[in-house]
Amino acid sequence: MEIRWLGHSAFQIISDEGVKILIDPFISNNPACPLPVEDLDANIICITHGHSDHFGDAMEIANNTNATLIANHEISLFLGEQGFDCIGMNTGGSVSVLGITITMLDAKHSSSIDFTEEVIPGGNPGSFIITMEDGTKIFHAGDTGLFSDLENVVGKIFKPDIAMVPIGDRFTMDPFQGALASMWINPKVVIPMHYNTFPAIEQDPAIFNNFVKQLNPNIQVVIMNPLEYYKPDFEKED
Ligand code: NI
Ligand code: MN
Repeated sequence: MEIRWLGHSAFQIISDEGVKILIDPFISNNPACPLPVEDLDANIICITHGHSDHFGDAMEIANNTNATLIANHEISLFLGEQGFDCIGMNTGGSVSVLGITITMLDAKHSSSIDFTEEVIPGGNPGSFIITMEDGTKIFHAGDTGLFSDLENVVGKIFKPDIAMVPIGDRFTMDPFQGALASMWINPKVVIPMHYNTFPAIEQDPAIFNNFVKQLNPNIQVVIMNPLEYYKPDFEKED
């Protein structure tokens, strides 16, 4: 498996079997992502919530690639009105596509579809557990503040191997809260996201790294540059 950060909260995950999963594909208006939208390939596109910096170029990429769109019920209705097939789901549910299981969990945030002429309610914001063919679990936290289910549900029940956690402050957790969330989620690897895209969310990821090291030195912090690939090298247990 390989994970590629596209800046902000956008990630491309390429499974061992070659399935390409895009999460929150904010590309063309993303100052941290120099890649042209046409260059992105996907089989599955997951959208955590309706905000433009997460919904992003989902429709154009789905048009280009025929990827399966996955989002909450309200966003799937909106996509349906735009002529797209979308698998709608809601908190606690799972769907399986091409051998990949996607589970929607909570996020403490909002989810309006904010890029249309009139703002449309976009249901509840979510996060995703993505279970790969070999059982490796990746948690993408979406946009969120700190809340105790990150420990009680994500950490204790789902036990992800890898977590992507926002640290930008202003709209989400800051580096300290992100480190607390990492301790609660307790993954093998944590990747910070949703920072340094715009001046409002400027952060030094080294500060996040220091907090995580103090709270739980067993968690490996992987700080990525946009367009960089990360190949997990931990051994999968059980
Ligand atoms: Ni948001
Ligand atoms: Mn956001």
